[in-house]
Amino acid sequence: MRAVVTGAAGFIGSRLAEELLEAGGKVAGIDRISDYYDPALKRARIERLARSARFELIEGDLNDLDLRSVLAGADVVYHLAAQPGARGGWGDEFEVYLRDNVTATQRLLEAASESDLRRFVFASSSSVYGNAERYPTDESLEPSPVSPYGITKLAGERLCRLYADRGVPALVLRYFTVYGPGQRPDMAFSRFIAAALEGHAVEIYGDGTQEREFTFVGDAVAATIAAGERGGAGGVYNVGGGSRARVLEVLELISELAGRPASVLHLPAAAGDLERTAADVSLARAELGFAPRTGLRDGLAAQISATLGAGELVPELLQ
Ligand code: NAD
Ligand code: UGA
Repeated sequence: MRAVVTGAAGFIGSRLAEELLEAGGKVAGIDRISDYYDPALKRARIERLARSARFELIEGDLNDLDLRSVLAGADVVYHLAAQPGARGGWGDEFEVYLRDNVTATQRLLEAASESDLRRFVFASSSSVYGNAERYPTDESLEPSPVSPYGITKLAGERLCRLYADRGVPALVLRYFTVYGPGQRPDMAFSRFIAAALEGHAVEIYGDGTQEREFTFVGDAVAATIAAGERGGAGGVYNVGGGSRARVLEVLELISELAGRPASVLHLPAAAGDLERTAADVSLARAELGFAPRTGLRDGLAAQISATLGAGELVPELLQ
């Protein structure tokens, strides 16, 4: 099996590439190593992947590369490259979201239409739902994003549908807030764990009652691999981990697991931030065999251990 993983230096993409290599596949990873967060973290992930002779890094921007030759001979494309961050993309930042999430996706789909791919898996987001009419949300609900990021992910989805109608075996996964070892440093759990361990205040946007469905990265990767094997062309699947909690509840759990209470600094609510997400994963269960295995407490404990193990923080702080 030859897979192309875009965003292979990223949080989820690097874990996916690792699993595909462990299963004996060949992986070509594409990444432009953007500086949205510390590129050294991305380089370290690539170094780990490069220990396998079956991994090849194609460093470059999807907007510049010759994608037809990259896709020649590939079986599955997992398109995870994106400018993430659901609270960004306002003002001039929108241009980056547009290039990385929309134009890059269109270029990749265009190249895919001239290839012999078995599947094209697009990483979309719970952000496309916006503040939904009902919870848990299922895929039949009309998306109504409330952030520039969500708009660009929805545009990516619609491009997948367009090219699926033209014969590209494209399908969409809507990940719900993914966490676990290696989580992006701009995301809530990474920031809360760092604050708890280093002893500084946690910044909470708004009153902290916003609720999320959280998905352990191993579960998100398992769903992604299953989609590459048996997802239906034109399909759209929620990928949610089954753990729902309010931001303040998560903070309490982190303080308990880290053995240190965190002090809280409340900031104004962030534009584009959703009040609530909750996933109905019946479709992914039925068609992909998806069943999330890691609950919030175990997943958080794994993320805290990995943070300490990676030497990112000082272990003595825990004593
Ligand atoms: P990440 O930022 O860690 O990884 C994305 C990678 O894509 C980065 O390494 C970046 O350098 C690369 N990239 C961006 N634009 C590129 C381009 N034009 N050409 C080549 N490489 C490019 O993000 P992540 O958290 O691992 O997210 C992976 C995917 O999952 C994204 O598509 C994101 O929108 C989606 N998603 C993530 C979450 C989450 O909770 N992390 C939730 C929903 C959806
Ligand atoms: C996450 C990812 O960042 C997006 O890329 C992704 O598309 C989205 O999940 C998704 O599921 O679609 P988000 O749910 O906002 O977005 O995840 P976090 O950044 O971890 O934030 C979770 C909650 O904590 C948010 O309500 C946020 O406002 C809050 N938060 C975050 C804080 O209160 N303080 C912080 O320092 C960080």
